[in-house]
Amino acid sequence: MNILGIETSCDETSASIISDGKLIANVVYTQEIHKKYGGVVPEIASQQHLNEIIDVVDSALDKSNLQKKDLNGIAVTYGPGLMGSLLVGLNFVKAMSLSLNIPFLGVNHLEGHLYSNYIDNDNISFPNICLLVSGGHTQVWLIKNYNEFTLIGETTDDAAGEAFDKGARILGLNYPGGPEIDKISKNGNIRYHNFPRPKVKNSPYSFSFSGLKTSLLYYTQKIDNLEFKNNIKHISASYQEAILDCLFNALENVTTNYNDVNDFYISGGVAANSRLRVKAKSFEEKFNKKIILPKLEYCTDNAAMIAMASYQKMMNGQKSNYDLAPSPNLKL
Ligand code: KG4
Ligand code: ZN
Repeated sequence: MNILGIETSCDETSASIISDGKLIANVVYTQEIHKKYGGVVPEIASQQHLNEIIDVVDSALDKSNLQKKDLNGIAVTYGPGLMGSLLVGLNFVKAMSLSLNIPFLGVNHLEGHLYSNYIDNDNISFPNICLLVSGGHTQVWLIKNYNEFTLIGETTDDAAGEAFDKGARILGLNYPGGPEIDKISKNGNIRYHNFPRPKVKNSPYSFSFSGLKTSLLYYTQKIDNLEFKNNIKHISASYQEAILDCLFNALENVTTNYNDVNDFYISGGVAANSRLRVKAKSFEEKFNKKIILPKLEYCTDNAAMIAMASYQKMMNGQKSNYDLAPSPNLKL
C-alpha cells in the first residue's frame, strides 16, 4: 500500500511517501521568505504553498520511483494551523483524490508529531510518555497504545517554541528563534544569569513560559548595550537552559508518579535543540529511563509524520468525506 502524505499547516510545504509502512520519500520546502518579517505572514504562507506544492509532490514521487497511478491513498493535515495554509493542502488533496479515484484522510497535525517518533523505530513499548514541544504547543501525553492518548499536562500560556521565538526577538536574533538561540548558545555560559524556572501550582506536568520571556525582556532592558553585546551568547545560553529545565522538571515529575513508564519520547521543532539532546542523555542516566528523539528532519514540520499517523487507519479503510473543512484550532 502506497500512501502520499501532505503537510501545509504553517510555513513548510511537504510531501512524503510511505510504502507498506516504510517511509521511502520525504521532501520539505521551508519558506525562508518569512525570516525578513520576523515571523510567519499567513497570506504569504498560503501563496507559497500554492507556488510549491506541485513541485514538492512531484519530487517526492520521483524520489520514491513511483507514479501517481501507484498511489492507494493520500493523508493530509487538516488542523491545527493557519486557515489559508491548511486550505491549500486540503483542496489540493481533494482534487488529487477525485482525479485518481483514491481515498484521502484528514490527519491532526499534533497526532503527526506524536507519530514522528515511530518513523524509524519499530520497537515501541507502551505505555510511554510523549513530550510534544513545537511552536504552537507544549503538551505531555500519556500514550497507552497507538491510538490511545491522554493529555496529562500542557502550557498555560506560551509554547516552548514560542518562548524561543519571542526570546530571540528580544535578543535581536532572526526568526525562527529556536535554531538561532541554539546556535549562539553553543559556547555560552548557562549559569551567566539565573532566569526563573516557573512552575504551575498543583499541576506537575504543566508549563508557563510567558513570565520567563518577560524576565528576559526586563533583564536586557536593565543592562547596558555594551554588556548586552559582549555577553549575548551567555544570556542566550542561560535563557535556553531555563526553558529546557522547565521541560525536564515536568518529565522528572512524571518519573515520580508514573513508575510503570520507562520510555519517554520528545517530538516537535524544539526536540531539534542540541542542548535538549545533551540534557536528555543526562536525564536518562540520572533516572534510568530511555528518551527517544526523532531524527532532526522529523522534529520540525514534515509530511512523513502525517503519512505515518494515517497508515494504520487507512489500512483499516478509514477515509474522510469531501466536505472535510480545515480546522485551525483542532485539538487532539
Ligand atoms: O514543530 P514545528 O516545526 O512547528 C509547529 O508545529 O509549531 O516547531 C517550530 C518551532 C519554532 O518555534 C522553532 O523556533 C522551534 O520549533 N525550533 C527550535 C529548534 N528548531 C526549531 N527550538 C529550539 N532549538 C532548535 N534547534
Ligand atoms: Zn508542527
